[in-house]
Amino acid sequence: NDGKYIVYHGLLCPNETHSPESFKYAEEMKVNDDDIFVVTYPKSGTTWMQEILPLILNGGELTPVQTIPNWDRVPWLEETRAALVLDRQTSPRAMVSHLPYHLMPCSFFSSKAKVIYVTRNPKDVMVSSFHFHKMASFLDDPGTFDEFLDKFLSGQVLFGKWTDHVKSWHNSDLGDRILYISYEEMVKDLRGVLERFSCFLGRELSEEALDCVARHCCFSNMKTNAMSNYSLVPQEIMDSSKSPFLRKGIAGDWKNHFSPEQDAKFSAVLKEQTKGLDLKFCWD
Ligand code: PPS
Repeated sequence: NDGKYIVYHGLLCPNETHSPESFKYAEEMKVNDDDIFVVTYPKSGTTWMQEILPLILNGGELTPVQTIPNWDRVPWLEETRAALVLDRQTSPRAMVSHLPYHLMPCSFFSSKAKVIYVTRNPKDVMVSSFHFHKMASFLDDPGTFDEFLDKFLSGQVLFGKWTDHVKSWHNSDLGDRILYISYEEMVKDLRGVLERFSCFLGRELSEEALDCVARHCCFSNMKTNAMSNYSLVPQEIMDSSKSPFLRKGIAGDWKNHFSPEQDAKFSAVLKEQTKGLDLKFCWD
């Protein structure tokens, strides 16, 4: 790579936002029992969760999501801003992470901190990532769709192989500390998923508050929220004229991108990589 990436335990991460120090911080940070982690493989719904969590934790109060950029509201555990932001957050702290299970902070494992793990159809993840690589100057050009598909399947992409990430978190042994949810369930029934989140986090929200959160977090609304749509990032770093960060926000966009051959290849490799595992997902 041409200096755009740092490699951490074999995983590619952008230099723009990660450093050896930021990974050391993530490894050594003291996890509190009431910390809340949202873990995702990139392009699986992280930004959406950065909108949802503060609303659930604040009873549907909109001020934080309307005034604080998402990266300061619910920071990335492994990024350089974490040390600045997390130490001054009031409890309970909410953060996002793309780390696989075994690279979580040492003190996470013996804590009571909760995790929401969001998965998304890997074909849609790949499509979203392909467009993201076109608009983000701190990432390599993705090449052709066919070339990017091979990189994705062999794990030569941000945070490595999708299957390794998902496997690590499905073997996590966290019992009722973890809630698994899919992007597709959120697309289909956001209101129902919000109820599951509030129940999991022990936050009772009124019917009106849940309605308000669901309305606020719909794709069209988030797309116009400057605190969430990455329009605060200079165009030289993220060029939304090439592809907006909040691009389509749907399930199944892969069908508009994959040829039958690419679909067959992708499915066969994924099947091989998850052989013998009891993983069931709700997408087609
Ligand atoms: S990143 O770079 O890892 O933080 O990206 P991430 O936020 O995980 O994923 C970006 C995709 O999530 C979509 N998104 C949404 N979809 C539906 N509803 C809402 N509210 C929403 N917010 C973000 C976003 O549009 C990206 O998907 P694509 O398919 O590219 O549109």
